[in-house]
Order: sequence, then structure tokens, then C-alpha cells
Amino acid sequence: MTSLSVHTQSIDFAAVRARVDKTLDDFLDAKHDDATARSMPVDVTEALGEFFASGGKRLRPLLCVLGWHAAGGHGDDEEVVRTAAAVEMFHAFCLIHDDIMDSSSTRRGRPTVHCAMAHRYDHDHIGTSAAILIGDMALAWSDELLNSPHRAPHRQAALHRVIDAMRQEVIYGQYLDLMAPFTPLTDHRAALQVIRFKTAKYTIERPLHAGAVLAGADPELLAALSRYALPLGEAFQLRDDILGVYGQPQETGKPVLDDLREGKHTVLIALAAQQATPAQHHLLHNLLGDPALDEDGAAQIRRVLQTTGARDQVEHMITTRYAQALTALQDAPCPPAATAALQRIATQAVQRTS
Ligand code: IPE
Ligand code: IPE
Ligand code: MG
Ligand code: MG
Repeated sequence: MTSLSVHTQSIDFAAVRARVDKTLDDFLDAKHDDATARSMPVDVTEALGEFFASGGKRLRPLLCVLGWHAAGGHGDDEEVVRTAAAVEMFHAFCLIHDDIMDSSSTRRGRPTVHCAMAHRYDHDHIGTSAAILIGDMALAWSDELLNSPHRAPHRQAALHRVIDAMRQEVIYGQYLDLMAPFTPLTDHRAALQVIRFKTAKYTIERPLHAGAVLAGADPELLAALSRYALPLGEAFQLRDDILGVYGQPQETGKPVLDDLREGKHTVLIALAAQQATPAQHHLLHNLLGDPALDEDGAAQIRRVLQTTGARDQVEHMITTRYAQALTALQDAPCPPAATAALQRIATQAVQRTS
């Protein structure tokens, strides 16, 4: 087994991913055997196993391990890998429920869990209900993965404070996202607030904190990590919003018309609406949120995003936040290998195409 404890050499992202995936596989195998022994349905473990096998960048577990390194973690790393797996299990819960709320048909290049279950049982409502329960189970199991009989009680308490904050923030963020259509389309500050909560905190900040507290990070270090994480997390979601309109479905694994069909109030759309001519306003109001929007309609919206300058503005916002994150990192008191890895992951998070 490859050790993750490095001080000077570079941190091997592929090795971290392999160890997190093995932890998830082993955990689900044990749950599968347990379900069989209890004559319980194996749908849940199978659906989650397929979900992990279908892909994903594993950004959150990687950041969890990097948080541990950033706080000087070394030696036995089993605990942090298991915590990283818990964070990815929590992400599975978020995505499975998000796809129901967003009526999304594909994720990681495969049918979403509610669509796959609807297809299997030839019943939409059963499919959605099954996916809610599968997501709930992922949430419960992410909690189980956090348990460790060997961890000192004060470390476990510190970890739980981070995880409690993460859960609350992302659920509030998703709630804000749900209610965003009731706020003015032009309100880009409201849209920024949504992405800070629904994405930045649970994707970057809290996974880093979770790893860092396991290595005994003090409040100053956690604050320094937040100064890196929050702008980066916003940049990550701003990139997601661009990919949601301009991305290649074979790379993102998600349909390219979803955000527009759903009429999502993203920062991109808010900026376009602020600068739109009356005719462009009319077009946005007519086409955004139309569940039957086709490629031709999407092309018209893309033209508005281009000519209003909204797309360029969002690219600029991504660049600014990326630079802020890197500057904050320079001031953070982390070992050189952790700093280098956090720089590398920042670049991947903003320049991604998937
Ligand atoms: C998708 O997250 C949900 C967002 C917060 C944008 P990722 O883009 O990290 O999804 P996977 O895990 O790689 O599939
Ligand atoms: C996902 O946000 C945020 C969470 C899952 C908490 P989005 O709905 O914008 O992300 P995608 O595009 O479906 O991945
Ligand atoms: Mg979604
Ligand atoms: Mg969503």
C-alpha cells in the first residue's frame, strides 16, 4: 500500500484516489454482504457502487487528505483516508438528491440514480422515492465512515464540528438555490451567496478543514485555509456554470441544456440580464426555464451571454478568485509539499473541462 505521508516530495493524487476508492469499495462490499445476510435488498449497495464506479474527480477526498498534510499530518494515514471516503460518500448523497431536485437525467455520463431506478421499475415515482432513500443511506453511511474507535475524543469532536458545519451549509445552499427563482434574475450577489453555500464550503473549505483538524490544526491555520478555499470554491462553481452552458456532455458527463431548461439563476445569467437590451431581456424571459428548450434556443441564449459580455465577466471573476486563492496560500503556514499540491489542485479546479 502506498503511504500518503510525504514531506518534501510531491503528493501523488492518483494514489490518494486509489486508496479512497478502495475504502469505499470495501465498505460497500461489507454492507452488501450484511444486506444479503439480513435478506435486505441489495439495490442500495449496488446503486452506490455503480455511482462511484461511473467516475467523478474525487476533489473533496483529495482536499481532505491535503488538509491533513497542510496541518503537518504524517505517519499513520488510515484515519484520514477513511474520513476522505466519508466526505465522498456525503458528496454522493448531495448529488443523488441534487439530480432529483434539478430533474437531471445524466451524471458522470450515466443515467442519474432516480432515472435508472425509474427505468428498472418502470415507474417514475418509485424511481424518485428509491433515489431519495439511496441518497439518505449515503448520508447515514458517510456518518458511519467517520467513526473511529482509535481517535482521541477531542479530535473526534473537532471533526464533528467541521462535518456538522458542512452539512448545514450545503443544505442551506441547496435551499437557497431552490428558492433563487423567486429572487430577481439580475441579482448576481444573491447568486454568489448561493454558490458560496451550495458549493464552495462543502467542496473545498470543509474537506480541507476535516483533514486539517485530524492533524491538530489550530484556528489560525483553519482560517488561513478558508482564505484559500472560499475564492477557489466560488471559482470552481463559476466554472461549473460556464460548463453547464458551454461544456461538452461527453466530458462533463452532464447534459448541456439542463441549467438553461431549468432556468437556473446563475451569476452568468444574472450578469447577462443586468446588461441585456429590452429585446435580449424578452428573449431570456421567453427561453430560460423552458423545459422544451432546444439547441437553437440555447444558441440564442449563448449569443446574449456573449454579446452582453457576461461570459467574459465570469471568466474574469474566475481568474480573480483563482489569484486570490493562490495569494492566500502563499501566506498559509503549510509544509512545501502541501502548498505545491494545493496550487496544483487549484489549477485543476478552475481550468477543468469535466
Ligand atoms: C458537482 O461536483 C457538483 C458541484 C458542486 C458543482 P463535482 O464537479 O466535483 O462532481 P464529480 O464528483 O466530479 O462528479
Ligand atoms: C450542485 O449544484 C451542488 C450540490 C450537489 C450540493 P449544481 O446543481 O449546480 O451542480 P450540477 O451541475 O448538478 O453538478
Ligand atoms: Mg444539479
Ligand atoms: Mg442543483
